[in-house]
Amino acid sequence: MQKQSLVKRGYNKLAKRYDLQRKKNGYPNKGLLTSFIKSLNKKGNILDLGCGAGVPVSKFLVEKGNTVTGIDISENMIKIAKKNVPDARFIKMDMTRMKFKSDSFDGAVSFYAIIHIPRSRHKTIYQKLHKIIKRNGIILVANGTNSGEYYGEFMGEKMFWSHYAPKKALEIIEDAGFEIIWGKLLRLGGEMQFWILAKNLK
Ligand SMILES: C[S@@+](CC[C@H](N)C(=O)[O-])C[C@H]1O[C@@H](n2cnc3c(N)ncnc32)[C@H](O)[C@@H]1O
Repeated sequence: MQKQSLVKRGYNKLAKRYDLQRKKNGYPNKGLLTSFIKSLNKKGNILDLGCGAGVPVSKFLVEKGNTVTGIDISENMIKIAKKNVPDARFIKMDMTRMKFKSDSFDGAVSFYAIIHIPRSRHKTIYQKLHKIIKRNGIILVANGTNSGEYYGEFMGEKMFWSHYAPKKALEIIEDAGFEIIWGKLLRLGGEMQFWILAKNLK
């Protein structure tokens, strides 16, 4: 099965369980989201890439007064997200093929999602973000902690992960037209990721 079909199938199957788990342990993402909001410096239009069930990320951003668009490849996640966060807009969309007008957003976040996309496609995602985010817009993304491309299991379903080591991930984001504000290894709720905050230079 094609890698992205496998990821989509996996998340469609585990969407309800994932929603419950996310609500239960929440992963302590509040600190990161607060940094993002501070860097943004104003309320705005935010894109949540691989939004999952919409909690806690899209929900937090809406509660802070932003207009949020969440996209996800899994239709079951999108259904749940619509119920969880009725004040956001959710669209079933593959982020590697996303289509929005230039300068549509003031910022974008992607929590634990780009790591499921073949890394050869990561450059395309950041190039698209460069176009659709306004000048000085902010992105906050989770990247894996090392270089790897592998299959495994997540919550009992077959899954696929793919990421570059932090140095290469930072290079890709810079080459796409962003200035790195910081990149940090953080363990949140038991999950270690390399988090990157960057500003769009246009
Ligand atoms: C671990 S979940 C994270 C969900 C949410 N960001 C959160 O923090 O709870 C990963 C999500 O990425 C989505 N995803 C994976 N590949 C995608 C793609 N190519 N385009 C859009 N979403 C994708 C999955 O369907 C899943 O909902």
